[in-house]
Amino acid sequence: MRTWMRWTLIAGLAVWIGVGLLAAQQKKKEPEKLLFPSKFGNVTFLHAKHTEREKGDCTVCHDKLWPQDAKAPLNYREGMHKVAEAKKISCGACHVAGGKAFASVGNCNKCHAKPGAKG
Ligand code: HEC
Ligand code: HEC
Ligand code: HEC
Repeated sequence: MRTWMRWTLIAGLAVWIGVGLLAAQQKKKEPEKLLFPSKFGNVTFLHAKHTEREKGDCTVCHDKLWPQDAKAPLNYREGMHKVAEAKKISCGACHVAGGKAFASVGNCNKCHAKPGAKG
């Protein structure tokens, strides 16, 4: 009986630590916005607004599309976004014809700050 209790205690403690670590990981503070510099005109990514639209669900993007690291590659520029749209990766997972948001074609200005940028 005493061994049983001891093991229950140890198992309970392990679960408690596990849940604590998981919570700590999810609590990594999200940025309000991120700036992606580009020769075609810098892109401001409204991070908090994007999360809000996904009802606070971080897993829509992390780590499926990107790790929680602004220094990690975005993998979006190849073929000026057409490759990402075809593969439904990076911003192209949503920003694609028939997707959740506007596709790149004809909408360069909605992301790139350079006035008069079009494609
Ligand atoms: C719509 C997609 C999306 C959602 C939803 C999202 N993120 Fe992000 N997040 C990104 C992108 C894009 C980056 C930058 C990745 C890169 O540069 O490779 C990022 C980066 C980050 C970073 C790193 C910031 C830095 O300065 O290094 C943290 C921390 C982060 N996100 C936390 C969160 C948290 C917490 C949530 C949920 C509350 C969340 N994210 C939801 C897209 C998203
Ligand atoms: C999970 C889906 C999703 C991903 C991934 C995503 N977006 Fe969006 N984005 C949206 C939605 C939804 C809108 C608003 C709908 C619309 O205007 O078509 C939006 C709107 C925007 C806007 C207009 C300003 C705003 O936030 O309202 C910009 C700029 C933008 N996204 C840039 C990006 C960039 C850059 C990336 C990749 C780093 C990205 N998005 C990835 C869903 C996404
Ligand atoms: C949904 C937002 C979004 C739209 C729409 C968009 N872009 Fe981009 N673009 C980006 C982001 C973010 C980057 C930076 C990519 C990276 O770092 O991997 C980028 C990078 C680029 C680059 C590379 C620039 C450099 O300095 O290496 C070019 C060229 C480009 N875009 C052209 C276009 C053209 C042309 C259009 C319209 C047909 C367009 N973009 C539409 C977000 C967007």
